[in-house]
Amino acid sequence: MTRRALITGITGQDGSYLAEHLLAEGYQVWGLIRGQANPRKSRISRLASNLSFVDGDLMDQASLVSAIDTVQPDEVYNLGAISFVPMSWQQAELVTEVNGMGVLRVLEAIRMVSGLGGSQRNDGHGQIRFYQASSSEMFGKAAETPQRETTLFHPRSPYGAAKAYGHFITRNYRESFGMYAVSGMLFNHESPRRGAEFVTRKISLAAAGIKLGLQDKLRLGNLSAVRDWGFAGDYVRAMHLMLQADEPDDYVVGSGAMHSVRDAVRIAFDHVGLDWQEHVVIDPELVRPAEVEILCADSHRARGRLGWRPTVDFPALMRMMVDADLEQVAREHEYGDLLLASSW
Ligand code: NAP
Ligand code: GDD
Repeated sequence: MTRRALITGITGQDGSYLAEHLLAEGYQVWGLIRGQANPRKSRISRLASNLSFVDGDLMDQASLVSAIDTVQPDEVYNLGAISFVPMSWQQAELVTEVNGMGVLRVLEAIRMVSGLGGSQRNDGHGQIRFYQASSSEMFGKAAETPQRETTLFHPRSPYGAAKAYGHFITRNYRESFGMYAVSGMLFNHESPRRGAEFVTRKISLAAAGIKLGLQDKLRLGNLSAVRDWGFAGDYVRAMHLMLQADEPDDYVVGSGAMHSVRDAVRIAFDHVGLDWQEHVVIDPELVRPAEVEILCADSHRARGRLGWRPTVDFPALMRMMVDADLEQVAREHEYGDLLLASSW
C-alpha cells in the first residue's frame, strides 16, 4: 500500500526538499496550504503535479482536524512555523501561537482523528507517526558545547521558547497517549532555497549582486556568532529516518562543525574573487536583543541509531548558494524582491 505523508510548511525551504524526498521514496505526499492565494505555492510548482493539497492553518484547530481526517496520513511532518528569529521579538504572541500552540493543535487533531484519549493509549497498529521540527535555538545560551539530546534548554528568544514548548508537548503526547511522536532538534540548515532574510542567503545574494555590479554594500549584525550549518537536503533525510525507527525518540541533527558569520562572508566573497572587508558594513540595528553566540551539534545518536550522515560541508554549501544566486540575480526582476527580503 502506498504510504501517505502530510507536510505542514510545504511551501518553505524544508517542506520543498522533504516533499521531493518522500515522492522519491514512493509516498503519496499532501501539503497543508495556508491562505486563499498563497504566493509561495510557486516554490513547489515543479512538483505540484505529483502533490496533493489540503487547506489549513496552524492557528485553526478545526482546519487541522479536517486536514488529518481528509488525508488519513501514515506520517505527519509539522514544519510550519514563523521561522525567522528576529520576528519573534516583534510579534511574540503570534510566534508563540503558531510555533508553540500550533504543535499542540496538530497533536490534538491526530489524537481526535485516531480516537485516542482518557485512558485509551495507542496499541501501535496503524497509528499516525508525527514529526515535530524542533530547533537548536532551544539550547540558546548553551549549557555545554557541543549540544546533545540531554543538554539543558536556555532559549534566548520568544521563538526558542515557543519551540521548547512544542518540543515538550510532543514528548508529553508520546508519554501520555503512546503516540509515535518525535522531535528533531535540527541545527541551522541552508540551501539555494533558503529565505533571503537568513544570514547565509543574505551573504550569498550580496556576493552575487556585488560581483554583478548591482550592489555595493552588505549590512550585517554580529559577525562573531558561531553556527553549525548544514545542507537542507541532507537534513530532511534525517526527518524521514526518525519516523522509520522502531521506537520513537528525539534526535539532535547537525554537522558538528563550527563556523562564524565572518567565515561565511569570507568563503562567499573569496568564491567570486572579492575582498569582503571592502563591502561589509556593521549595522547595530541588526544585532539581536539576546544573541545565541555558539551552537554546535553532537549527533552521535542520529548517526549511530539512524545511520544518518551529512554529505555537504559548509564551504561547499556556501559556494553552492553563491553559484545559484549568480544565476538568479542575473534575472533582474527576481533580484529586487530578494534584496527587499534580505534587508532585515
Ligand atoms: P521556512 O522556509 O520559513 O518555512 C516555514 C513554513 O511554515 C512555510 O511553508 C509557511 O507557509 C509555514 N507557515 C507559517 N505560518 C503558518 C501557519 N500559521 N500555518 C501553517 N503553516 C504556516 O522554514 P524552514 O527553514 O523550511 O524550516 C522548517 C521548520 O523547521 C520550521 O518549523 C523551523 O522553525 C524549523 N527549523 C528550521 C531550521 C533551519 O535552519 N532551516 C532549523 C531548526 C528548525 P506560508 O507559505 O503559508 O507562509
Ligand atoms: N539574519 C541575519 N541577518 N542574521 C545575522 C545578520 C544579519 O544581517 N548578521 C549577523 N547575523 C547572525 C545572527 O545574529 C545569528 O547569530 C546568525 O547570524 C544566524 O542568523 P539566521 O541566519 O537568521 O539564523 P538563526 O540561527 O537565527 O535561526 C535559524 O536557525 C535556527 C536553528 O538554530 C532559523 O532557521 C530558525 O528557524 C532555526 O530554528
